[in-house]
Amino acid sequence: MIEKRVALVTGASRGIGRAIALRLAEDGCFVIINYRGAKEKAEEVKAEIENRGGEVMLYPCDVADFEACGAMFQDVIQTIGRIDVLVNNAGIVKDGLLMAMKEEDFSKVVDVNLKGTFHCIRHAARQMIRQRSGRIVNMASVVGIQGNAGQANYAASKAGIIGLTKAAARELAGRGITVNAVAPGFIETDMTAALSEKVRAGAIEHIPLGSFGQPEDVAEAVAFLASEKAGYITGQVLSVDGGMAM
Ligand code: NAI
Repeated sequence: MIEKRVALVTGASRGIGRAIALRLAEDGCFVIINYRGAKEKAEEVKAEIENRGGEVMLYPCDVADFEACGAMFQDVIQTIGRIDVLVNNAGIVKDGLLMAMKEEDFSKVVDVNLKGTFHCIRHAARQMIRQRSGRIVNMASVVGIQGNAGQANYAASKAGIIGLTKAAARELAGRGITVNAVAPGFIETDMTAALSEKVRAGAIEHIPLGSFGQPEDVAEAVAFLASEKAGYITGQVLSVDGGMAM
């Protein structure tokens, strides 16, 4: 059994999830890297953590699958013995204007982003309740606060995550579990790499700090909310967006 705090990060094979996994390992957590298909990328993150002296395990699972998430947490608890931190980071986009949006594209984004977050909370909280402690951090977005043309499905999923965060925070507070959300603005990852120069320039005009953020900026906020020091903070949405939403 592991003595360290145990943290599971979903979608941690790249981007923001990767930065969070590295940052939590630096804080001394045993990290479980969840990923869906990108085994090679996940192996790279694992090697990076091990090279820095950290302890890590990989666990492939599609967060949109309720049963698979159940099996993942059961396995983790059987092999490692505990779960202290859950970071619901996995997320996808399938952008399009509302009037042209296919039903399946709306459903898929909600299934991964919002239901995936519910699935993991539902299964992790059972163990955290037993332990009478836990930290859950959910990845929202500035788009869930402000909306964004062309992202009705994504905005709905991220606004849903904010509601879910607050409801779960109220339900789990009495069990020593905090539930918070982080709402990034534009962060340099594969998700934003596809944006055209014109869209990037337009976005930067709305960012008071004048640039896109880095995955490490988000990881820092997550690490704080996941730490023991953040024990009196729950149900909050911490924006990491260069001042976009204020
Ligand atoms: P990314 O596309 O680079 O990485 C997403 C990760 O989630 C990947 O590792 C992917 O394999 C994983 N994933 C996707 N579907 C999954 C599933 N069904 N099960 C398990 N894993 C799955 O995205 P990025 O930029 O790192 O985003 C991470 C989170 O931050 C997402 O929730 C995203 O919505 C959110 N976010 C990102 C922003 C940005 O500007 N990059 C802004 C605001 C929020």
